[in-house]
Order: sequence, then structure tokens, then C-alpha cells
Amino acid sequence: TPPVDAPLGAEATVTIDGREVTVPAGTSVMRAAKEAGIDIPKLCATDSLKSFGSCRLCLVEVEGGRGTPASCTTPCADGMVVSTQTETVRDLRRNVMELYLSDHPGNCAGCARGNCEMQALAVTTGVAEVRYGREGANHLDDATDASNPYFDYDPAACIVCSRCVRACSEVQGTFALTVSGRGFESRITPGNTNFRESECVSCGACVQACPTDALAEKSLVSLGMPSRTVLTTCAYCGVGCSFKAE
Ligand code: FES
Repeated sequence: TPPVDAPLGAEATVTIDGREVTVPAGTSVMRAAKEAGIDIPKLCATDSLKSFGSCRLCLVEVEGGRGTPASCTTPCADGMVVSTQTETVRDLRRNVMELYLSDHPGNCAGCARGNCEMQALAVTTGVAEVRYGREGANHLDDATDASNPYFDYDPAACIVCSRCVRACSEVQGTFALTVSGRGFESRITPGNTNFRESECVSCGACVQACPTDALAEKSLVSLGMPSRTVLTTCAYCGVGCSFKAE
């Protein structure tokens, strides 16, 4: 969203990893990078949700002593020169990733989500070992909320990126989810109850948004990944929503 004081139609030209790109004023560095064909690692951001700036995986280096801000919440300024792959940002990202993994169950082989974004990012960011160990893993003893007929919520696998909370409010407009607690105690809650008793309408937007297997379809949890998927269009109405049949 352009800043409120940006003149209508204003643009900014920035250089990212040596590529020049011109974007509407207020565009985030992350989106400008994408325009230039550069993918910056991210966990809390998606292409469609509003920026949140919590995971710190998208750090970039901005020339001119402007430090290493989160690219998803930093608006482009005309003349800005950005590097997404310096030694400094790679080190920072690796360290952030290690911290996430140190607070995450270490059973990736048994993960219900075959396309776990966090697992893929661990590879992309080059994490070979977790120097902080796995002792800090929280919520391991907390019960999985299996009350919803279609999906489960496992707080131990949740990294509290808030993508589900934002998908629930921004995509579905339901506002059923929130983050409760602070620090290691933080977790996603559907109010003071479980998913089934809450305002949740089982639309599945939260499950789609989750970058780990914290929110996972029951069929995946019990049967594992399907051997094939078919993309089809719902004939129920004229909207043309597509969904996957497995
Ligand atoms: Fe930018 Fe998470 S993607 S802070």
C-alpha cells in the first residue's frame, strides 16, 4: 500500500542485487525483488497476505548505513540499493532458522505436510546443524486440537507466524483466530475454546496458509500425502473456485 503522503502515481526506482526495477511508491522491497525475478526467503509473508514482519527471515542489506531491515515491511525509496545475498544477511537468516528449528519437533520425516515450507527453507538457508539443540521445543506436551472435523492443530509444530490468523481475517473475514501468550508460551487460539466450538467456519484458509504441519488436514495426518492430486472446478455456483481432490 502506498504511504498516505505519497503523490498519486509516484514511483521508486531501486537496485536489487544489481537489477534495477521501478515500482509504485510504497511497494515493499520484497515485492520489488519479486518483480525483478529475485525470491527473498520468507516465512511470515505470503504473496497475498498483508506484511507482518515477524519471522525476520527476509532480512536484506540496504546500502548507505541503512542496516538489515525486513524486506517485507520496508518500502522502496527512490535510489535505494539493496543486496539480498551478502554474507551478513545469510548468517542472520541461518541463525534465525536455527532458532526456529530449536523450538520445533525434530520429526520432519514423519511430517504430515509433504511440502513443509519451513523444512524447505532450512535447506535454502543452508542450516546443516542446529547449534541450540532441540531442548527448547515448547508445547510438546500440549494436546493437539483435533476437534475440527477437517483439520488438526498441533501447537508444538506452530511457529506463530500468524499467517493463519491473517488468512482467517483477511481472506475469510471471520476473525476466529488470535495469538495468545508471549514468547515461548505464545500459540494460536480460536478464542478461549477449541476449533469446533469457536467462530471457525472450517473454510480451510488457515490450513492453506500454514507453512508447517501445525495446521494439517485430517486426511494427511491419518493417510499421509496423496499419490496424486487433481485440480477441478466446483460446479456448485458460478464463482469458479478451484479445489484439489485427493
Ligand atoms: Fe519478512 Fe517474515 S517475511 S519478517
